[in-house]
Amino acid sequence: MKKKVLSMVLAASMMAAALVGCGGGETAPAATTEPAAEAPAADAEAPAADEAAPAAATGKKVGVSMPTKDLQRWNQDGANMQAQLEAAGYEVDLQYASNQEETQVSQIENMINSGCSVLVIAAIEANSLSTVLEGAKSAGIPVIAYDRLIMNTDAINYYATFDNYKVGATQAQYIIDTLDLDNAAGPFNMEVTAGDPGDNNAPFFYNGAMETLQPYIDAGKIVIPSGQVDFATVGTAKWSTENAQSRMENILSSNYADGTQLDICLCSNDSTSLGVQNALAANYTGNYPIVTGQDCDIANVKNMIAGKQSMSVFKDTRTLAAQVVKMVGQILSGEEVEVNDTTTYDNGTGVIPSFLCEPVFADVNNYKELLIDSGYYTEADLQ
Ligand code: BGC
Repeated sequence: MKKKVLSMVLAASMMAAALVGCGGGETAPAATTEPAAEAPAADAEAPAADEAAPAAATGKKVGVSMPTKDLQRWNQDGANMQAQLEAAGYEVDLQYASNQEETQVSQIENMINSGCSVLVIAAIEANSLSTVLEGAKSAGIPVIAYDRLIMNTDAINYYATFDNYKVGATQAQYIIDTLDLDNAAGPFNMEVTAGDPGDNNAPFFYNGAMETLQPYIDAGKIVIPSGQVDFATVGTAKWSTENAQSRMENILSSNYADGTQLDICLCSNDSTSLGVQNALAANYTGNYPIVTGQDCDIANVKNMIAGKQSMSVFKDTRTLAAQVVKMVGQILSGEEVEVNDTTTYDNGTGVIPSFLCEPVFADVNNYKELLIDSGYYTEADLQ
C-alpha cells in the first residue's frame, strides 16, 4: 500500500532549497577518473515510474554521490540516475568516491557549495557523513539516501532502496526450496558470508536470510561446521571479493580439507559470492554447493550460466533511479513525496520515510526474461 507523507519541516526546507538551488549556476565539476568495473551501457529507459517527474527541473542541479566505480552496480546506478535526471531537465553533478570516505565527504561539500538543489547519496560508510550533511541541512538542501541508509543524522529527508530484508529472505527461500528442507532430514553443511558492517543494508540482508533459515538450523537440518555465524564474524569489509575469498579459504582448509561435504554457501551479494566461488575453485573438490548472490552483476550471471553460482537477486537499478528522479521532482515542486514504508528504517534520529522497490529472484532458468528481454543486458554482455 502506498502512503503519502508530507512533512511541514521538509516543506520549509524545500522552499529554502529552491531558493538556494535557483542561485547556483556553476558548472558541475568533472566526474572522477576512477577506473570503472565491467559495466554495460545501462539502458536509461526507465520502465517503472508510473508518472513522469514533475516539471520542477529548470535550472536545478542535482548532486549524485556514488561510492565507487569498482563494483558494476554503482556504475549502472550512476549512469541511470544521470540519464534520467538529464532527461527530466536537471543539471547533474555525478561523483564517484573510490570507496574513500574522505573523498565522498569532500565531493558532497563541493556539491553543497556549488549550488545543488538536492543531494542523492549512496554512502560508503553509514556513519561518516553526519558532519558534512549538517552543512546541507543548514543550507536547506534536501538529502535522499540512495540504496543505503545514512545513519545518525537528521539531515536525511527520504530513503529509496530495495526491500533489503526481502533480498536475504529470497536467498534463504531458494536454499529451502532447492534442498527441500521441509522434507529432507539433512543435516546440510552451510557457511555464511555477509556484507560490509559499515553498510546499513548488510544486517538487513543477513537477518532476512538467517531468520528465514533459523527454524531449519534449530531443527538440526542446517549446521555450520566453522561455527562462524554471528554477523560480526561473517561480515566482509567493503564488500571485497578478496576479503571474502581469503576468509573462505581459511574456512575450507580448517573444516573441509578432510572431505567434509559443503552444501550451502550463503553469500549476501555478488562481489562476496565471487570471492567464495574463487575459494571453492582452488580449495574444494566435493560436490559443488548451492551458492547465492545479489545484484546480477555480469560476471555472476556468467557464472550462473556456467553452474558456479546458483542464484542471484535482481535489483533493477533503472527502477530505483526512476523512483528517485520522481522523488527529486516531488521535493522540488513541493508536492507530497511518494513513499511506501514509514516504519522500517530508523537512522538513529527517527524513521526515515522510504520507498522500497521489489527485489526479484534470478537463476539460470529466468535470467533471459529478466535481464535480456527487459533490455538490462544484451546477449553479448553475457558472453
Ligand atoms: C547494495 C548491494 C551491493 C552492495 C555492495 C549494498 O549496499 O545494496 O546491492 O551488492 O552494497 O556494493
